[in-house]
Amino acid sequence: MNGKQNQPIRVAFAGCGTIAPLHLIGLLAQSEAVQLVGLADPDLDAAKSLARQAAELSGQEEPVVYSSLDELIAAIHPDVVHILTPHFTHVGLACQALQAGCHVLLEKPAATQKADLEILADSVRKSGRQLGICLQNRYNFAAREARQLLATKSFGPVLAARGFLTWWRDDQYYLQSPWRGRWATEGGGLMINQAIHTLDLLLWLVDEPVTSVKGHLYTDHLENVIEVEDTASLFLRFGTGATGVFYATNAYPASSEPFLEVVCEKAILRVEGSDRLTVLDRSGNLLADFPQIVKTGEDAISDAVDRFIPAGKSYWGKSHAILIADFYQKIRQEKPFAINLAEGRRALEILLDLYEAKRKGQ
Ligand SMILES: NC(=O)c1ccc[n+]([C@@H]2O[C@H](COP(=O)([O-])OP(=O)(O)OC[C@H]3O[C@@H](n4cnc5c(N)ncnc54)[C@H](O)[C@@H]3O)[C@@H](O)[C@H]2O)c1
Repeated sequence: MNGKQNQPIRVAFAGCGTIAPLHLIGLLAQSEAVQLVGLADPDLDAAKSLARQAAELSGQEEPVVYSSLDELIAAIHPDVVHILTPHFTHVGLACQALQAGCHVLLEKPAATQKADLEILADSVRKSGRQLGICLQNRYNFAAREARQLLATKSFGPVLAARGFLTWWRDDQYYLQSPWRGRWATEGGGLMINQAIHTLDLLLWLVDEPVTSVKGHLYTDHLENVIEVEDTASLFLRFGTGATGVFYATNAYPASSEPFLEVVCEKAILRVEGSDRLTVLDRSGNLLADFPQIVKTGEDAISDAVDRFIPAGKSYWGKSHAILIADFYQKIRQEKPFAINLAEGRRALEILLDLYEAKRKGQ
């Protein structure tokens, strides 16, 4: 951004599907001067509809619509590209944008193959641009509080951790976007698409290298609809000797909040959903110094997000907006954004190893 400190950062999106409106709202809610100048999607109707929505919400000119990122970059050279497309396209599009000198905010997962992660890393190195990975749950209130408490090391070493995710995805979810549910295009199922967030939080909270993983992948309820897994269990060992267990499924019709627990020598931390952290002693009683920490009021970014939500509509993407605000602040300040490729591949490499082992019948 050298020499452009006062000019709006010019932004483009590749992909105008389900997740794109959350990126649009996040972009508008943050405080750096930005302008959404272009949208690329082979589905031109989807791009045009998002362009209209962007103009209505921002009061700025409609972003120009293109059928490919190639065309968009050649025509308007944005500063930043958000990649919001099916998984199998991520690495190709991200490398294209980086090579053209753009910073990139890439939706998870960074890649669907381990070899592609090296290609992406090489492209980031050569470009000198930032690549941010959209693991927005790291900005959830309870996860952030837990991470800060654990970083003080005052509870002693971590002994064990567990993570549970029990969600529901029905056949309609997969039929609506046919790239989902296929090895070639989604790159996996529950683990690479939904549970990657919860596994990432578990690894981020424990913050120790993983030395071994055993796992099982199942297709429990959508065998006739998807090729990939809808349920998984993992057993992890960390370098310190700590143990992790993890269970996730997309086959639980009463979708419930993700649950994470970290057991340290002197305390147990429980993260429930986005906003509730409980700190217990080893007997399971609330620790006197840590009354249950629950997010109550809204913060500045949530208020800003609310301005763009039509009355009566609910919105589940506030952590997206917080991540996007942080990304643009770092771009403007020319400082590194924390969730870079090294962070974005932590959980991903574990689940890609599991997929590889499954393919080999191990
Ligand atoms: N972080 C999260 O919590 C979260 C939540 C939902 C989705 N996502 C991620 O967002 C991404 C998109 O998911 P979605 O649910 O919006 O999918 P979607 O199928 O609803 O939309 C994808 C869009 O990308 C377009 N597209 C396909 N190939 C393209 C290309 N080469 N260039 C430009 N556009 C192209 C499609 O036409 C479609 O409009 C995925 O990586 C998904 O995992 C993340």
